[in-house]
Amino acid sequence: MQAVTDHGFIHLLRRYGGADVCFAEYFRVTADSKLDREILRCATANETGRPVVLQMIGNDVTHLVRTAKELQKHPVAGIDLNLGCPAPRVFNKCAGGGLLRDLPRIDRILGALREAITEVPFTVKTRIGVEAAALAEFEALLAIYARHEPDLLTVHGRTVREMYRTEVHYDFIAHAVAVMRCPVLANGNVDSPETALRVLAETGARGLMLGRGAIRNPWLFEQIRAAAAGREVVEPTGREVLAYLKALFETVTDEGYTEEERVHRVKKHLNFIGLGVEPRSAFLDGMRRTRSREALFEVCAAYLEHDRPMRLVAPSVEEVNALS
Ligand SMILES: Cc1cc2nc3c(=O)[nH]c(=O)nc-3n(C[C@H](O)[C@H](O)[C@H](O)COP(=O)(O)O)c2cc1C
Repeated sequence: MQAVTDHGFIHLLRRYGGADVCFAEYFRVTADSKLDREILRCATANETGRPVVLQMIGNDVTHLVRTAKELQKHPVAGIDLNLGCPAPRVFNKCAGGGLLRDLPRIDRILGALREAITEVPFTVKTRIGVEAAALAEFEALLAIYARHEPDLLTVHGRTVREMYRTEVHYDFIAHAVAVMRCPVLANGNVDSPETALRVLAETGARGLMLGRGAIRNPWLFEQIRAAAAGREVVEPTGREVLAYLKALFETVTDEGYTEEERVHRVKKHLNFIGLGVEPRSAFLDGMRRTRSREALFEVCAAYLEHDRPMRLVAPSVEEVNALS
């Protein structure tokens, strides 16, 4: 995830178990783009002991192929193409989720990448369409994906317009599982071991991709493994969550910056964690007002200095409404 799952963060996750496979934030590919050294480090300085896949986003066949060839000179576990990002600056340039409007171009890009990526698996991450969810639109996309035989397909079960907040169309993911010959990963709103098992059962997907849930709860990978194996799911205590937030501060913020800049930087992550700590957003509001490390961790301690187990699940829209 952009500006979130950097080299330090994926190594931090490993302390809590971590993913079986990690997908790094994307490289923007344009006519004059070079490989971003920091993102590349996720693979070249990978000490997690787990594979790291690098991801590209762009819309020009020649430059995507050039970048894919360069990436294969490095120890990458796979090369992924992003067909889902809804950010306006990406979408409007017809890259990421924006490409889902241009099927002939996706066809050309996938054909060229399938031919160029010979050393490592070639994988694709997609949303289910652009506007309202429509199975016919998704089927047309799947037909193109199937033709180019990616080694893995990850489906975020929302359209581009649905951004991040709507319900996830898990039935569409189940459809992709039925149609594709390659393994499919299900993605979207998996934030607890119960949801994980339900989504796996409902979709038949080979695995799950976790995004925001893993930032809020880095124990989630182990919790899902435990639930899947019928073992007891262990929830972290408040104090353990507090220790995670302190480790996060040290990991994702650079000592070369001022304290205020470091506090600002860690808020990017805390924004995803906040409602899991306190559902009425008092924690979020409090931490957002802080400028120093001391003030930030005073707010954190007020909510987390205890030994009660924490679920670290963000409330649903209905739950938030019920609270107010
Ligand atoms: C801030 C942010 C940055 C993201 N960056 C990426 C990215 O670089 N590549 C990618 O494939 N998905 C990216 N995503 C999408 C997530 O990987 C994921 O598909 C989406 O958040 C839904 O899954 P979740 O509910 O588990 O978070 C990003 C999402 C957010 C919120």
